[in-house]
Amino acid sequence: MKILVTGGTGYIGSHTVVELQQQGFEVVIVDNLSNSQVSVIDSIEKITGKRPHFEEFDLVDYVKTLDFFSRHSDLKGVIHFAAFKAVGESVEKPLVYYRNNLVSLMNILEAMISSKVENLVFSSSCTVYGQPDVLPVSEKAPIKKAESPYGNTKQISEEIIQDTLKSSHLKAIALRYFNPIGAHESALIGELPLGVPNNLVPFITQTAIGLRKQLSVFGDDYNTPDGTAVRDYIHVVDLAQAHVVAVKRMIEAKMKHNFEIFNLGTGNGYSVLEVIKSFEKVAGMPLNYQIVSRRAGDVEQVWADPSWSNNELGWKAQKSLDEMNASAWKWEKAYRSQH
Ligand code: UFG
Repeated sequence: MKILVTGGTGYIGSHTVVELQQQGFEVVIVDNLSNSQVSVIDSIEKITGKRPHFEEFDLVDYVKTLDFFSRHSDLKGVIHFAAFKAVGESVEKPLVYYRNNLVSLMNILEAMISSKVENLVFSSSCTVYGQPDVLPVSEKAPIKKAESPYGNTKQISEEIIQDTLKSSHLKAIALRYFNPIGAHESALIGELPLGVPNNLVPFITQTAIGLRKQLSVFGDDYNTPDGTAVRDYIHVVDLAQAHVVAVKRMIEAKMKHNFEIFNLGTGNGYSVLEVIKSFEKVAGMPLNYQIVSRRAGDVEQVWADPSWSNNELGWKAQKSLDEMNASAWKWEKAYRSQH
């Protein structure tokens, strides 16, 4: 059972490759290494005892993408992670984001059609809900106008997929991630942002290890219990396991429609200060932080209603916020001790 994982050397991709291999799938990774390191392949091999096949090229390249699929027409499915994902950068460089995220998806869809590969799992985001009117947010919640070009690429991608399914043999599952954090328990793979991290937990762990002076907490005047913004943080290994479940659902023909959407969250909302407190507890040290003004484009609070995913997929996130922070901290320490 061969699966293509695009973006398989990235953060969520690498954790998913590990889970796939541990469940007996053969994995082929395509990645252009624009935001990841080739050494991740070695780490995956160390964890699983199996080396995934790896090809380095850019899926925006139509000819290379078609050529890849013509050589791998025995694929049982594709999990498409490869995309740019920095919200702020997408505001600065909208066309770079639209070209990269949309053209690569369209190339993959065309190649899947011509090589008769049927099953696509697509990396989507809770960003499509914006600030939901009702919490927790279910898959039935309306799509709100995107706050950023990045968010818009996720909305448009879901639409491109749905339109494509209407006139082809393809089936697709869109997984809408809430906030993935944490790292594999081996501390051999984890999140590795280039430059200054945008996201909360990498910024916390980099501050704790001494790479950053201080964490800025963006706003304490939100309408939430402690005034800081609330998110649904989910352990990346829980998230990765949901992809394996989704792939099996497609291969075993258990889908109810040829396009399905699932929220991947825990159902729990935690504030920025609660994340910091949990980190301080598991790391056994205080974190240097200060409250600053809100960050443009942030929503106040969002957490998932995961009941549809729990019931339909038979999947449920298992790991607590403390476990997420502990694994992120273990990874940061292990990585920095070697680099
Ligand atoms: N935060 C800080 N300080 C930081 C970084 C983040 O206080 O240095 C706060 C943010 O303001 C937010 C929370 O921590 O309240 C989480 O921020 P992240 O940047 O970690 O995550 P976001 O919720 O902003 O972003 C995530 C994904 C995006 C996706 C977005 C949709 O990373 O890909 O959810 O809301 F678009």
